[in-house]
Amino acid sequence: MAEIVDFKIIGDDRGSLISLENLNNIPFEVKRVYYIFDTKEGVRRGFHSHKNLKQLLVCVKGSCVILLDDGINRENVTLCEPNRGLFIGANIWHEMYNFSNDCVLLVLADDFYDETDYIRDYNKFLKTII
Ligand code: TYD
Repeated sequence: MAEIVDFKIIGDDRGSLISLENLNNIPFEVKRVYYIFDTKEGVRRGFHSHKNLKQLLVCVKGSCVILLDDGINRENVTLCEPNRGLFIGANIWHEMYNFSNDCVLLVLADDFYDETDYIRDYNKFLKTII
């Protein structure tokens, strides 16, 4: 279920750089970027699916774990490398947990924030995927 996208690290003796480009190494056109950081100990967030939104998650610093659930299978993906992205398409229930203190989770999305695109009730989510 987990769709991992590996990014090329452009490195030299000064350090590393990663470039993200619409429809090149990002599988959609980015309309919104947000990032989650300073997450408190033990916090679990997410708990929703999207009707249409596509997102790509990159843990650019630290680590966290993403639970993916397509209504049949569940998978837990650890993100701990800035050169690794996790694609989450529509109709995937997801939760985020085990954030390290220094975690910065960068999210690229193919649309603006729209609360009507969210399904925040797990039983409603299960009904949508039948
Ligand atoms: P929320 O959906 O609870 O975050 P998560 O799914 O990561 O647990 O969002 C927290 C608040 O931030 C909520 O009031 C909606 C708002 N928000 C925006 O205004 N824009 C955004 O792009 C996102 C992702 C959330």
